[in-house]
Amino acid sequence: MNQARLAAIVQSSDDAILSKTLDGIITSWNKGAERLYGYTEAEALGKHVSLLSPPELPNDIPMIMSKLRSGDQVQHHETTRIRKDGTRIEISVSVSPVHDLAGNLIGASTIARDITARKVAEETLRKTEKLAATGRLAASIAHEINNPLEAVTNLLYLLRKNPSLDEKGRKHLSFAEQELERVAHISKQTLGFYRQVSSPSRIDVARTLESALSVYTHKLEGRNIRAETKWESGTEIQALAGEIRQVFSNLIANSIDAMPRGGTLTLKVSKSHDWGNGNRRGVRVVIADTGSGIAPAQQSKLFEPFFTTKRDVGTGLGLWVSKSIVQKHEGFIQVRSSVRPGKSGTVFSVFLPESKPASVAA
Ligand SMILES: Nc1ncnc2c1ncn2[C@@H]1O[C@H](COP(=O)(O)OP(=O)(O)OP(=O)(O)O)[C@@H](O)[C@H]1O
Ligand SMILES: [Mg+2]
Repeated sequence: MNQARLAAIVQSSDDAILSKTLDGIITSWNKGAERLYGYTEAEALGKHVSLLSPPELPNDIPMIMSKLRSGDQVQHHETTRIRKDGTRIEISVSVSPVHDLAGNLIGASTIARDITARKVAEETLRKTEKLAATGRLAASIAHEINNPLEAVTNLLYLLRKNPSLDEKGRKHLSFAEQELERVAHISKQTLGFYRQVSSPSRIDVARTLESALSVYTHKLEGRNIRAETKWESGTEIQALAGEIRQVFSNLIANSIDAMPRGGTLTLKVSKSHDWGNGNRRGVRVVIADTGSGIAPAQQSKLFEPFFTTKRDVGTGLGLWVSKSIVQKHEGFIQVRSSVRPGKSGTVFSVFLPESKPASVAA
């Protein structure tokens, strides 16, 4: 093959192909290298290859160069490089020695391919599988502990009725009840989502929200939280009642937790159009509080499983489960929050489409 054709092939290759001297100075740079690393040929020629080396891997390139100089092969391997704009890329590289006509080693050529997308896909798959496995495990554990849980609840109830229980015994009993409630909460969070087998029915969203709220009346009073409600009539949708109720219950509980020194909890239900793309009819639910707010850095993590700032009382599953439920109903959930002193608070908005989505066949 003649030199010109070879050069043309190198130039048009999808892979990044570059060559360098034994000292690491770049001597050729094809279009693929321009695309992969973001430097033009003019910018790259004459520079040292360490240009592409991320600061956290300072020994990577020197090691490759010293191996080459001593005549060793550099095996095909995967590593990280840094682009001109500072972003990291995962690449698969192979480095081969280049000899002159007399057979002297004069440099090396490198062929690199971007495998970032593949790495991301692998990582996502790993996370998803882990999550699915965790979910299944959680559901089966929750299922298994529900019966003994109920038995213990009944036993504690009987114990409380026992007149021979002294003051100290009552105190211990209170602690036991609190801890039991926590176990029951964890079990409900996990089991509720994974094991609901009822089928979707026509539900009134405002009534569902009202009934979720009623459970917290006592807590609201104790915390000095004022509840403001605004329902529109005719807010009906096709949904799994128990799951939607769980979403509302989670959001209300979070708002209450965020207002330890009181505040206002605002609940609104209205007929709405999907404010994302506008052509689906449905219901909008707003749950807002004047609580502590959520710091910007934490907002992106809210819906991740096990993310919690409530060390002793939270499982960090509430929002993750809620989002999963809403998505299953082909709706979406959004959050706005501010931590500005005096004006802090959080607004969760949920859109639920009116018609029965096919995917809600339980
Ligand atoms: N209304 C809110 N105001 C302030 N922070 C909130 C609010 N809602 C959620 N958060 C933050 O998001 C985190 C995650 O919420 P999530 O409901 O998923 O878990 P959790 O409430 O910590 O535990 P649980 O699983 O028991 O609900 C909370 O720990 C809290 O830091
Ligand atoms: Mg919660």
